[in-house]
Amino acid sequence: MCGIVGYVGDKQAQGVVIEGLRRLEYRGYDSAGIALIEAGTVHSDKRAGKLANLEKAIGERPLPESTTGIGHTRWATHGAPNDQNAHPHLGRRDRVALVHNGIIENYATLRAELEAEGHEMRSETDTEIAAHLLERELDAGGDLTTAMQAVCRRLEGAFTLVAVDAQDPDRVVAARRNSPLVVGLGQGENFLGSDVAAFIEHTRDALELGQDQVVTITREGVTVTGFDGSPAEGKPYHVDWDLSAAEKDGHDWFMRKEIYEQPQAVADALLGRRTPSGALQLDEMRLSEQELRDVDKIIVIACGTAFYAGLVAKYAIEHWCRIPVEVELAHEFRYRDPILTANTLVVAISQSGETADTLQAIRHARVQGSRVLAICNTNGSTIPRESDAVIYTHAGPEIGVASTKGFITQLVASYLLGLYLAQVRGTMFGDEITAVVNDLEEMPAHLQTLIDRKDEIYALAAELKDARSVLFLGRHAGYPVALEGALKLKELAYIHAEGFAAGELKHGPIALIEEGLPVFCVVPPRGRDQLHDKMISAIQEIRARGARTLLLVEEDDPAVASYADSVIPLPRVPVLLQPLVAVVPLQLFACELASLLGHDVDQPRNLAKSVTVE
Ligand code: F6R
Repeated sequence: MCGIVGYVGDKQAQGVVIEGLRRLEYRGYDSAGIALIEAGTVHSDKRAGKLANLEKAIGERPLPESTTGIGHTRWATHGAPNDQNAHPHLGRRDRVALVHNGIIENYATLRAELEAEGHEMRSETDTEIAAHLLERELDAGGDLTTAMQAVCRRLEGAFTLVAVDAQDPDRVVAARRNSPLVVGLGQGENFLGSDVAAFIEHTRDALELGQDQVVTITREGVTVTGFDGSPAEGKPYHVDWDLSAAEKDGHDWFMRKEIYEQPQAVADALLGRRTPSGALQLDEMRLSEQELRDVDKIIVIACGTAFYAGLVAKYAIEHWCRIPVEVELAHEFRYRDPILTANTLVVAISQSGETADTLQAIRHARVQGSRVLAICNTNGSTIPRESDAVIYTHAGPEIGVASTKGFITQLVASYLLGLYLAQVRGTMFGDEITAVVNDLEEMPAHLQTLIDRKDEIYALAAELKDARSVLFLGRHAGYPVALEGALKLKELAYIHAEGFAAGELKHGPIALIEEGLPVFCVVPPRGRDQLHDKMISAIQEIRARGARTLLLVEEDDPAVASYADSVIPLPRVPVLLQPLVAVVPLQLFACELASLLGHDVDQPRNLAKSVTVE
């Protein structure tokens, strides 16, 4: 999952590359490195740990001025996160410098081949062999572009490679297979990045690359080819968000900023979804109405927080469309020989659009003949590109590693999908669909109300900051919210946290309840079913055993007051939409508590934003 930057132009490359790495650091922060070309020599520095370590090193031992450079921020896969394994890696004679994102699966064979020829490796990475192979190709004749094509033809696995050649100072060459890479198009300068954040302050004109392509950037232009050298073309697009969206805007953490952005994110996710006649439309649906009517089963695949969005999608889609929905962790999916047919619709939910587990799962589904619809936040990323249809979530860039506005807009997109299917298949009347869309359109205001009351949640976080364990209970659509609340706390505050379906308590987990244990309970809204009352019974049971009950409950619910140690009021919304509001206080709680504990909220330990290895 590493972040990659490349630059050639008339600016000082060091500044451009370091700034780009700063914006990509969310992709991995085990080490950072840079290589610049000057006077026929590669000048590089690389350091374990965060980018700040590299900056300090360069401050003490400056690199020469140069207008061509590459950089890397690493999330370690092969080899420990130390200086040696940090990228860039150099070839045998230090002629080539190369950075890599992904995993080269046949690296052991290639390494053995190189070592038999006398090449000595200086790291434990799978990457270094690619630098050696490139240099070997260059020595045999040709230029960096043809060398890159030849090397890529020998590599198996997933990779973005970006390289420079000391003897060809005005050219940066990159390649991609199953791993992200975009080109930034400037005037007299061009850029490469794992995503557009790498160069957004310089240009908003970008070029999307296809699978198995090599791109060469110089000051004057950009050339794209296949691995076989055949001419190819990238797809130009204009980035519709700007630098300020990628910066903290005065907040201490990107995550906090992104939580506060959720009213706007939900409004954006809903934008343009109705035709003038009031019907729902999904712009990149691309599956015909007949194809959607033929669907007899939906399988939602996703990981982590996106998986919890999938669990909510199941409740909504089954209720509104009467289609059976399975929800599966993407990494489990293809290994259990799932039953897939042409009438199975696979819905892949992924904020980044690059999660390798989810990508491999959709590939498996497509090979079996199923259609794939992606719910994704990242325009032009791999998962939507390889899907038959896409619903973009329009949350804007999510930089904090823990997903917040990504999740909430995944929920919105899932609801829209359910309603659209209901419209096409006639399982709901038009006015019923309109009523739900109207409810959704009220969400930004509800979310704002919750965010305006953040200080109450922050006070609770301060009170509970010494907790060793916290439980989360929910029922129905509140159950995935409980799982998400627990995940947020685990990953940010490193506190033991578990989410349970409240009905499951007496089948085991109630044994965990002890005096003073904080338990967040997502109380379903009062309604015709018995969900609310059943939840109240569960709350009584745990309170009787000493739990400290923190109830997320719709405002003015008199039944709960006597069972609550704390009440977190939620706006009154239908039960299926309640996850949208119930998750916000839990996000605020985890963010604040982690911050109070002194943790790095945006870059929790051991995690990376986009998990591009299986
Ligand atoms: C947790 C979190 C992760 C991601 C998961 C999938 O806060 O962000 O659990 O949800 O890694 O990532 P995407 O949605 O990019 O496929």
